[in-house]
Amino acid sequence: MAGRLEDVESEMIRYYAARAGEYDDWYLRRGRYSHGPTTDAAWHSDLGAAAAWLAGRGFHGRIVELAAGTGWWSPVLAAQGQLTLCDAAPEPLEKARVRLAAAGLAARFQIRDAWSEPDTSADCLFAGFWLSHVDRGRLDEFLGLVARWLVPDGLFAFIDSRRDPESGALDHRPPVDDVQVRRLDDGTSFRVRKVFYEPADLESALDRAGFRQIEVIATDRFFVLGSARRY
Ligand SMILES: C[S@@+](CC[C@H](N)C(=O)[O-])C[C@H]1O[C@@H](n2cnc3c(N)ncnc32)[C@H](O)[C@@H]1O
Repeated sequence: MAGRLEDVESEMIRYYAARAGEYDDWYLRRGRYSHGPTTDAAWHSDLGAAAAWLAGRGFHGRIVELAAGTGWWSPVLAAQGQLTLCDAAPEPLEKARVRLAAAGLAARFQIRDAWSEPDTSADCLFAGFWLSHVDRGRLDEFLGLVARWLVPDGLFAFIDSRRDPESGALDHRPPVDDVQVRRLDDGTSFRVRKVFYEPADLESALDRAGFRQIEVIATDRFFVLGSARRY
């Protein structure tokens, strides 16, 4: 029976819900995410650089983390302020809850669409590997939303993917027209939106959205790191 095709954005939420138990394999270069000792060492070096960069951004006060997932970066944030983790899927957030509890850090958790209008204001907002899931045609809209979350002079920071064939799983092909097919360990597959924004594109978009002190840099191979302040 022919049905309405599910849109990529909804499929992406189902994907991350189903992937919650194996998500950190990507960070840890386990199983299908290992690309051999040389590449894996380069990955871990970039990951360490990203963590050090994030810790030095000056997070403070009320911190909102959108699309927080399993909370890989959340301990860095929760150590510096009152963190609220938001995600559309409960499964990854549950992993984040366990991670923060194990680290002895307090935080609030909210099932929340990243596109929902803010219901409070924040001193700082972080999004890890989320901008690359935002459609090119909606990037300005999303950054406008970020600006509405933040108090004047509030900090926005993000970490995201650079295009590199050895960043993802061995059995993943590059995106076509910004849509990528992702497979899980059990063989099921899902479509996600995946956009490799160039640092210059992100800087221009942040400028258009009314941010200042814009800085977008890249690690050696794998990540884009960005921060800016709301006017
Ligand atoms: C690539 S993961 C990033 C997780 C985490 N921020 C990190 O850096 O590891 C993307 C996350 O976005 C969440 N997500 C997908 N669509 C969403 C939406 N519309 N609103 C909020 N979260 C969403 C997924 O559930 C997933 O946890």
